[in-house]
Amino acid sequence: MQIDPKKALENPIFSIISTAANELGIDAYVIGGFVRDFLLKKTNPKDIDIVAIGSGIALARKVASKLNGNPEVTVFKNFGTAMVRYGDIELEFVGARKESYDENSRKPVVENGTLEDDQKRRDFTINALAISLNEANYGELLDPFDGVADLKNKIIRTPLAPGITYSDDPLRMMRAIRFATQLNFTIYSESLEAITEYKERIKIISNERIIDELHKILASKKPSIGFALLHKTELLAYILPELTSLQGIEEIEGQSHKDNFWHTLEVVDNISKNTDNLWLRWAALLHDIGKAPTKRFDKKIGWTFHGHEFKGAKMVYGLFKRLRMPLNDKMKFVQKMVMMSSRPIAISDDIATDSAVRRLVFDAGENIDDLMTLCEADITTKNAKKKKNYLNNFSLVRQKIIEVEERDHIRNFQPPISGEEIMETFNLKPSKEVGILKEAIKEAILEGEIANEYEAAKSFMFEKAKKMKIFN
Ligand code: CTP
Repeated sequence: MQIDPKKALENPIFSIISTAANELGIDAYVIGGFVRDFLLKKTNPKDIDIVAIGSGIALARKVASKLNGNPEVTVFKNFGTAMVRYGDIELEFVGARKESYDENSRKPVVENGTLEDDQKRRDFTINALAISLNEANYGELLDPFDGVADLKNKIIRTPLAPGITYSDDPLRMMRAIRFATQLNFTIYSESLEAITEYKERIKIISNERIIDELHKILASKKPSIGFALLHKTELLAYILPELTSLQGIEEIEGQSHKDNFWHTLEVVDNISKNTDNLWLRWAALLHDIGKAPTKRFDKKIGWTFHGHEFKGAKMVYGLFKRLRMPLNDKMKFVQKMVMMSSRPIAISDDIATDSAVRRLVFDAGENIDDLMTLCEADITTKNAKKKKNYLNNFSLVRQKIIEVEERDHIRNFQPPISGEEIMETFNLKPSKEVGILKEAIKEAILEGEIANEYEAAKSFMFEKAKKMKIFN
């Protein structure tokens, strides 16, 4: 890794910070993710962390006073940190700390420290790298824990004994797994084993912070790396027990079912190749959670998971609520995907009829493409012939969806005749009859008896009304 660390300081902000620190008579360093990402040749930082050997807040104020337009300094007094916005970058300032944490919360007990005190209280060696902004050694890389070697060898390792690092902030156990997933790094064995030992400490971490890490794992190129590690370290049972319950293969009378946990991880990896939609990835992760509580063994037909989609969709609500995720349209989308996750496969078993495809499009509405993407990802059979067949059938269904859609415009179905028009035509008050007529028109369209258009619907309505003796 022969990169000159000085090159990391090309942005003019660094010389401004350097001058400001010099004027205050304190030392300052750029540290953490910015340095790590520079060495990994990933530029375009969203935030830059600066550590001051002295007051980070005073340095932030001094820097802000030197910037065009004197940007605001946001001070987080409790943490002794301050933030200044510089273009679209957030500059985070902190004073070097020699800190120990309160046992039962994350609140640090802060004491001023040296750069090295600060570096060793950081999470991983690759995040403890600092570059000097001081005149005497401007641009020098300070790496007391061999972070550069760990970057080169793709290793996540805590700078101190992992028990200390994780007790300081148990979220770091998830951060280790998240970085391993994002960067495709290995967690150093001691640092990994300690996660299992300290797993219970995750309980003191807020759901919001946990979800933040889960989202980052799920948004990675290969999310299964993270979920497999969460499972291996036994952290998963504290976060998503619904998934842990899917693990295992049971056998009765020589019949077994697939391991739905490892299947799920494959589905998530598959879908991640085809979509960056985080909520669709969530749907893939949760699509089978209803299988654990609905699993039954029947002597005649073997293992069944009747109604698992419905059960799973209900569980999505409980899971989102518990983890304080939004209970909004995103959650409803995940529920809908879970609920409908077996529909395309059910119709693709045979030659899909037009009416089955119309019903599928009607129920999925604008999410039909996402649903098809989920179902294609769900094919994890190792039997090449079967896999080919499934994929073939799905592409036929996709083709049919396009044809049916061009002809019948079911995707954003609006009834061609409104309830008001039905009431006016037959001089009816809001009543059961109106509902029956409206439903009959919709059914006739979905069944393909009539086209999805006004004139056809109108004559059908008159015929139906006649039969119902509303009109003669
Ligand atoms: N840090 C830490 N322990 C934490 C969180 C952060 O030691 N629980 C330190 C690390 O040195 C980290 C820096 O604070 O590099 C900044 O944290 P953050 O912005 O959360 O992470 P980044 O490393 O910048 O990475 P990313 O932006 O990908 O989250």
